[in-house]
Amino acid sequence: MEAVTPLIEGGIFAYLNYLVPAKRKEILEILVNGLKRMEYRGYDSAGVGFEGTNTKNGSHELKTIKQKGKVARLEEEIAQTTDLDFEKEFDTHIGIAHTRWATHGEPSPTNSHPQRSDPSNEFLVCHNGIITNYKDLKSFLITKGMVFESETDTEVIVKLVKHISDKHKDSAISFRELVELTVQQLEGAFSLVFMSSKFPGECVSTRRGSPLVIGVKSKAKLSTDHIPILYSKDHRGLMNPALHHTDSTTEFHPIGNKEVEYFFASDASAIIEHTNQVIFLEDDDVAAVQNGCLTIHRIKRTLDESATREVTTIKMEIQQIMKGSYSSFMQKEIFEQPESVVNTMRGRVNFETNQVVLGGIKDFMTEIRRCRRLLFIACGTSFHSAVATRQLMEELTELPVMVELASDFLDRQTPVFRDDVCFFISQSGETADTLMALRYCKQRGALIVGITNTVGSSICRESHCGVHINAGPEIGVASTKAYTSQFISLVMFALVMCEDRISMQDRRTEIIQGLKNLPSQIKAVLETDEHVNTLARELYQQKSLLVMGRGYNYATCLEGALKIKELTYMHSEGILAGELKHGPLALVDKAMPVMMVVTRDKVYPKCMNALQQVKARHGRPVLLCTKGDTETQKYAYNYVEVPQTVDCLQGVLTVIPMQLLSFHIAVLRGYDVDCPRNLAKSVTVE
Ligand code: M6R
Repeated sequence: MEAVTPLIEGGIFAYLNYLVPAKRKEILEILVNGLKRMEYRGYDSAGVGFEGTNTKNGSHELKTIKQKGKVARLEEEIAQTTDLDFEKEFDTHIGIAHTRWATHGEPSPTNSHPQRSDPSNEFLVCHNGIITNYKDLKSFLITKGMVFESETDTEVIVKLVKHISDKHKDSAISFRELVELTVQQLEGAFSLVFMSSKFPGECVSTRRGSPLVIGVKSKAKLSTDHIPILYSKDHRGLMNPALHHTDSTTEFHPIGNKEVEYFFASDASAIIEHTNQVIFLEDDDVAAVQNGCLTIHRIKRTLDESATREVTTIKMEIQQIMKGSYSSFMQKEIFEQPESVVNTMRGRVNFETNQVVLGGIKDFMTEIRRCRRLLFIACGTSFHSAVATRQLMEELTELPVMVELASDFLDRQTPVFRDDVCFFISQSGETADTLMALRYCKQRGALIVGITNTVGSSICRESHCGVHINAGPEIGVASTKAYTSQFISLVMFALVMCEDRISMQDRRTEIIQGLKNLPSQIKAVLETDEHVNTLARELYQQKSLLVMGRGYNYATCLEGALKIKELTYMHSEGILAGELKHGPLALVDKAMPVMMVVTRDKVYPKCMNALQQVKARHGRPVLLCTKGDTETQKYAYNYVEVPQTVDCLQGVLTVIPMQLLSFHIAVLRGYDVDCPRNLAKSVTVE
């Protein structure tokens, strides 16, 4: 399995002013603006944590304001807060802020960040990523008397810091050391910023698998363009003397006076308006600001790692940073798929034991296994994910499987029974037709399972149980990474359904090992991008494009044609190759662009037959075919190769060239790739 790289979702922003006086109003504005700069990353709630004074006893204390919904709502909430002196000036101050994309617990003020260690807010944390061992940590902390208030995985982090701090209350342990001890207990992916009432004006941040960048703004010239790494004791108190820097002069000071401001953010887009001097943290770096000085520590040193972190001068436009090196969100999302599919499987598929656990439906599995039939109901791309997995679902569950377009399902007033299990697949979780079909089935007593990408969405809330596909926010209107994650979620469900069937163990193992290889195979498919672009140049002035295939690849034809239609405004049809002779063959001649998906699986001979029919009508088929299949490639006018995987997973790979092709044709035609005409990301009307 590849290393976990969390996707762009939610964001952290923190601002520390050291000997740079600022009014609370200004500090909060900086924090909120930082969040606004990262709004493109997708989120569903927001919050800020900042320093203040207890009005009763005058002691230093931390405050939070958190709100569900957009940053603008948080801003309103802040403006309406009556017990804050907005004019109060702070010479030195730390504030942390966050936009959250819900993964554990629905969007709500309690689940928003900063999460707190205790009702007195002794420690606050903002977190991006997912802590996979949070259940174990939570159980442990509960035995230590900690009381949890949110459903988040994040809360364990801040409670663990508090627990460790309490244990060391008689020693002079630093804030940074507390955080180092804490993160050694965490598994998963994270970037974190901490603040504490015990350590006023200090900030500690760290990352593992989730980006974090620090901006430095100082009137004086920076003393160095490389920050030396300091090595800390590990959790057993051991230190490798050969690797350990003790020289305190290696600490990072801005030259001259010590007035300095630091900005911590999930990406540089939130920092660039303040400073272009940034330091990109690497995994397991622990960056701490104490008395205005920034140090970067590490617990362990790996071979050949750099002993410094460079202060980089960035010269990018904000818009450019948000999309990275990509020209559109859709392109970025296509290229995120090696990571998004990992995130869909993370913590669910064990490739060593071949076990699959779907926590969100685990308690309902007995009921699901007893059902009379399975219904999969959705619209558009989400519907295609059900088409893509129907054959496998039938094979592994041995149950009748219906795959339905939500609008048609409702039009027909399809009979639904109490012993049916109905799945509602929706990226947004808000699609009106899907939601109405859900309510229709619920009224008739069926068990409702939601498969969504949006925690807290209507479909999530109204389902009895569900699977979050964890693809990360999808901003481009055309669905890409959500499709492959929905596909894999449904495959995982089918695998859970047959886990006790001895006769199916070989097939299960084959599929699970196929899932393991998918991320690297997706990367290989993405390498065809330049070639696909060449094809797009040949096709972009055409009026029509037929996409043909059958078996496990039929869904790729439907989804590929949908991508072509919505992005390029060309006519496109996904055609089941078995239907060719029943009508569509009449469309084929040498002028009609045809794509055919012909991979090496059980229906290969039949696909070859269809290919011959197309060739016999002087068609010039562009093939999506198995890598190295020179025999088939002989019949192609042109071809794109994809690696071979297990038959039922092949559609995850064959759909990607279609995503790329539609993207490139749209660009060549000069269309808006992220917002095609007449379409919306979330279709909340019938
Ligand atoms: O949010 P949903 O998955 O329920 O949306 C359903 C369709 O509107 C959606 O998949 C649509 O077909 C895609 N944007 C097409 O790329």
